[in-house]
Amino acid sequence: MAELTSEQREVEESLVYRVVASFGETPDPRLRQLMQTLVRHLHGFIRDVRLTEQEWDAAIKFLTDCGDITDERRQEFILLSDVLGASMQTIAVNNEAHANTTEATVFGPFFVDDAPHIPIGGDIAAGAAGEPCWVEGTVTDISGNPVAGARIDVWEADADGYYDVQYPDGRVAGRGYLFSDEHGAYRFWCLTPVPYPVPHDGPVGALLAAVQRSPMRAAHLHVMVTAEGLRTLVTHIFVAGDEYIDRDAVFGVKDSLIKEFDRRPPGVPTPDGRDLGDLPWSSVRLGIVLAPAPPHEDR
Ligand code: BEZ
Ligand code: FE
Repeated sequence: MAELTSEQREVEESLVYRVVASFGETPDPRLRQLMQTLVRHLHGFIRDVRLTEQEWDAAIKFLTDCGDITDERRQEFILLSDVLGASMQTIAVNNEAHANTTEATVFGPFFVDDAPHIPIGGDIAAGAAGEPCWVEGTVTDISGNPVAGARIDVWEADADGYYDVQYPDGRVAGRGYLFSDEHGAYRFWCLTPVPYPVPHDGPVGALLAAVQRSPMRAAHLHVMVTAEGLRTLVTHIFVAGDEYIDRDAVFGVKDSLIKEFDRRPPGVPTPDGRDLGDLPWSSVRLGIVLAPAPPHEDR
């Protein structure tokens, strides 16, 4: 790349200066900072790569396509943020490691508010296909005190790699919530997680294909834990040994979240005496440690 002439550099830098200055009177100081820094980085990117007009048009078409495919069941912009690692970077910035707390990871697009309440020991699978899996553990604070009454939301894909909301028949399966007991303990049945692709039939999928990246997510169970006075935790349990553990499409894997799932052949008695007939099953333990709520978190 040829060196820029001083006249050309002057043209480009003066534009950055004027655009940054145009946000200088923004009354909200945070909005001012966000917009001015965004402009500096965006112009820096355009100038660094010497962006062509065709490339800028293609970028605008790409974003337009993301908008066109987005509806109340499909959120292509969240997916874009996820595959760019922007979701995980925002989580990293906002969930600084705090003592021994359970680490957070990406929320994903498949949580829904109206999941069923299940009793302790209940089954969130609700008929979804897959291998039964027993999950148990306790919820504590950073001092090891049990957290009673913590709400534990759980959701996952079935053995075919689909969440219930991806089926057109309105089924509710593979999701639910329960509360920890007076000792902070919880236990429930779900399905042994399997790897599955993020939705890749839209513009983000085309981008992944163009850069030869896989759309596969490492096998995981989504868990969200909320409790009075404590920081809400959004996380996953990942399956040790899963083939995608080192190349999760959305960069969600953290070592501390990878757990051994003990595999049992058919006929091995289950922890609660449930008769699974000729099905194999698995079990995993997840101790959940919640951080104190930051002062701004409304509870
Ligand atoms: C998921 O966990 O289901 C997911 C997360 C990010 C993007 C797409 C799917
Ligand atoms: Fe998921």
